[in-house]
Amino acid sequence: MELYSDIKKVQQMVSNLHQQGETIGFVPTMGYLHEGHERLIQRARQENDYVILSIFVNPLQFGENEDLDHYPRDEKHDRAIAERNGVDMIFFPTVDTMYPNALSVEMTVTRRADVLCGRSRPGHFEGVVTVLAKLFNICRPTRAYFGMKDAQQIAVVDALIEDYNFPVKLVPVPTVREQDGLAKSSRNVNLTDKEREEAPAIQEALQKGREMVQQGIKNPLTIKNEIRKFLESKTHGKIDYIELLSYPKLQDVHHIEGQVILATAVYYEKARLIDNVVFDAD
Ligand code: PAJ
Repeated sequence: MELYSDIKKVQQMVSNLHQQGETIGFVPTMGYLHEGHERLIQRARQENDYVILSIFVNPLQFGENEDLDHYPRDEKHDRAIAERNGVDMIFFPTVDTMYPNALSVEMTVTRRADVLCGRSRPGHFEGVVTVLAKLFNICRPTRAYFGMKDAQQIAVVDALIEDYNFPVKLVPVPTVREQDGLAKSSRNVNLTDKEREEAPAIQEALQKGREMVQQGIKNPLTIKNEIRKFLESKTHGKIDYIELLSYPKLQDVHHIEGQVILATAVYYEKARLIDNVVFDAD
């Protein structure tokens, strides 16, 4: 496994791979890897000749009051996980390497970002598309792997690739969960024992919502109200949002039909957890 922190060196390596006609699978992460990330790496390993994992805690996508300073890091553990899963190269640039100067050209996300997490995290998806545009240009992947846990991120990246003709195929990977249903997340370590006990209610609530839709309730307000009641009875976490939208366009629906996303975010003392279900309502 190769370790690179220098952009030019990665570009040289990638250029050689392209010349040899090799396919490149790319898994962008912010590190502190868990089974969720691992699943993405495994998919990339199965489907490509060469696998690049990037580890970069991207300051641009964190808001002022967010957990950038508390974001967990463990390089040694990440390296072991990468090695074990057959990663060929880890790209782990520093902030100065990625952003040596203030950007002269900035990206704005005009659709798909004013709902769900985008609404409560202004600037977040601008930060995500900025770093991904750079990473795509550095790693020039054939396929890039993203988790459905961050379904809005996938919707925004889908638009980035489409709008700017990045020659990369986006591969969505289903959410990996703990045995009790809680979506695996680097932020779960910041939950207190009591919060951790309550948190599986988030997925339970979303599944209940999905069942209601599939049983014929097509009014989004009814579904959202039921989910809110359920969550409030099961957890002390503060609900940030509960939304039901079309997917991947993330538009309001008045009558539920087609592919939709039902998603929620819940604030705990030191962590904000998100989860969703994407399903066909018809
Ligand atoms: P990070 O939060 O480290 O997540 C990296 C990738 O792992 C994302 O595609 C995310 O959806 C996926 N992932 C996280 N938990 C998962 C789970 N339980 N099951 C399946 N996949 C899971 O997302 C980011 O980093 C950043 O925004 C990034 C794309 C790297 C840009 O900075």
